[in-house]
Amino acid sequence: MTSSNPAVAPGSVRLTRAAEKLIVALDVPTSDAALLLADQLRGHAGVFKVGLELFSAQGPALVREMVERGARVFLDLKLHDIPNTVRGAAREVARLGVSMITIHAAGGRAMMKAALEGAQEGAGAGQPPLALAVTALTSLADHDLMDIGWRESSETVVLRLASLAQASALGGVVASPQEAASIRRNCGPGFAIVTPGIRPAAASRDDQARASTPEAAIRAGADFLVVGRPITQAPDPVDAARAIVREIETALGARESAGQESGDRLA
Ligand code: C5P
Repeated sequence: MTSSNPAVAPGSVRLTRAAEKLIVALDVPTSDAALLLADQLRGHAGVFKVGLELFSAQGPALVREMVERGARVFLDLKLHDIPNTVRGAAREVARLGVSMITIHAAGGRAMMKAALEGAQEGAGAGQPPLALAVTALTSLADHDLMDIGWRESSETVVLRLASLAQASALGGVVASPQEAASIRRNCGPGFAIVTPGIRPAAASRDDQARASTPEAAIRAGADFLVVGRPITQAPDPVDAARAIVREIETALGARESAGQESGDRLA
């Protein structure tokens, strides 16, 4: 997929390569609000993220509806349980036709392997979702990691769990923009890095203490950016998404001239 050859998303919406990298977090409580945003932003963002709150409120019916309308869905449920349970959950979410899922790397190798098997089974003859690892939640400071018995710095924990996820054949990781460059160095190209905590330079930081601009995150090696409130709460969400896509485009140009590779590969 290149910007000169825009990809055709499901539903025949043409997206530029930069727009494909934008994931909009639909952190809204109702199906109506989520579907309205997904419809408005079709053609401006590659993927829509449904998190625990929206999924708990609206369930699989909303996800099915979004997929039927041609949206790619990132179902961010952060699976973490015994392997047999995670296998079943991954199978069911893959059956919904989602494009990305999250799994806690701290669940260990066997659990990640079971998740991949489940996702493959649920996808049937189709493409299974891109399985992303959650390493150490960015809400955990080093002292919180000590409290739960992880006696290493958050950076060490993140890199170790990212490597474990890669060795377990997961397709990538969710990470803060500040972690992206070291994960890219450690895990190499071909391992997707998805970064939340993105704020356009002029935007409010909301509660993101360590936010990065879209351009900085792409330059650090991110493949996909998760952006919520700067788009969903903007007076004009389409305008806000367009501005972010322009920043991504600029950064991709700079990254490619520098010969950096990426790990984006999405069905
Ligand atoms: O509104 P905002 O752009 O801050 O939304 C970011 C999204 O990314 C939210 O859905 C949030 O749950 C998620 N996220 C995050 N930081 C992490 C992991 C996920 O902000 N470390």
